[in-house]
Amino acid sequence: MSKITVSAPGKCILFGEHAVVYGHPAVAVAIDRRISVSIQPSKTGSWLLDGNELNMSKNPHISGLIKKLWPADLGAPALSIQIEGNIPRSSGLGSSAALSVAFAGALRLARGRWLTAPDSNQQQHWAEGFSSSISQTNPYDLSCGFFATTPTNELHHLNGMDAIDLDEIAILSHGAEANAQNGRASPMDSSTCAHGNIVVISNKIERNIDYLYQRNLTTHGSEISWHIHALELVQQPDDVYLVIGNTGINAPTGKQVAKLAELLRQNPMKMKEVETIGKIARRGIDALLGGDYDAVGRSMSENQLMLKSIGVSSPELEQLIKAASPTSLGAKLTGAGGGGCMVALTRNPQLTSDAIELAGGRTFITKLGTAGLTVETNDITPIWTKS
Ligand code: PMV
Repeated sequence: MSKITVSAPGKCILFGEHAVVYGHPAVAVAIDRRISVSIQPSKTGSWLLDGNELNMSKNPHISGLIKKLWPADLGAPALSIQIEGNIPRSSGLGSSAALSVAFAGALRLARGRWLTAPDSNQQQHWAEGFSSSISQTNPYDLSCGFFATTPTNELHHLNGMDAIDLDEIAILSHGAEANAQNGRASPMDSSTCAHGNIVVISNKIERNIDYLYQRNLTTHGSEISWHIHALELVQQPDDVYLVIGNTGINAPTGKQVAKLAELLRQNPMKMKEVETIGKIARRGIDALLGGDYDAVGRSMSENQLMLKSIGVSSPELEQLIKAASPTSLGAKLTGAGGGGCMVALTRNPQLTSDAIELAGGRTFITKLGTAGLTVETNDITPIWTKS
């Protein structure tokens, strides 16, 4: 049966996890592991996930995106969803963001997008959708669906790839992450999985890096603002790789983020370490821009010391990092920590990988950056087009 399939990569974080939740800079890299989501009309009339009835409350990322992009109250039909991929779950590699990005992309493709009729300047605008520059809809509020500004008979329909907008995909996925992490989620995973390659998040607009958009999120009484950039390496290094080592221990992000929030509440002085992570990330960004991978590696190892000091590392992670260190330029945990994965930057990927495996980790080697959202199959669009 014909279907729509969209894939998105996982990510690892070179600098700045946890501190980025508090608005400090961070860098994430899309990795050679992906999740793909296929959708097609459901034959049973109910939502299906991998052949079984979809439990909406157990799949908050999926149900949140359905509310946003596929409203049953407007007649959107139930779909059958199939998920495949090789990104380990709850291990700091952005599996949930990759899932959200791929699913949001598939739904948008299945729906297309309505545009307004050309205005007096022959400009057409979105009649519905989500974006960092649209204020009518709130991607972070699940009760707030999409909007249509003009009567349907004046609208124009945009189909296929042209309907997809990466800012929209990333902001909806950020909303899904924030809802799943009790409001505390940076846009790092969602933007990296959507755009691919290397994403830099900063508390200011960086002059030397391509600017994508701004994100604002009000959470736990404070408004945090991030500037998101796409970093294009002057030259993809052909002698530097990332080795990811998995401890095999599941560590849900929400729990780790809440643990740090509690530590900071009890010991506000620890905020100094969080700020230091931001400063290390800034040095790491300069090193990346300058192609100085020895300095990138040093910053990663410095970052790890701070992550350990704020209590988000674990003995198993430390063991893998120690094993990787002699053959790598730098190593640290990636993601929320407490388990999950570490990452080493190395010119000797096989040696580093062997050392991590010997210490009990499962590894894979990846280059620095890969394609973001990708449409793999598209033979039935649109599935549903009502506005
Ligand atoms: O473990 P992951 O892949 O979900 O990454 C979490 C990164 C944090 O900085 C800890 C949280 C966030 O929202 O940025």
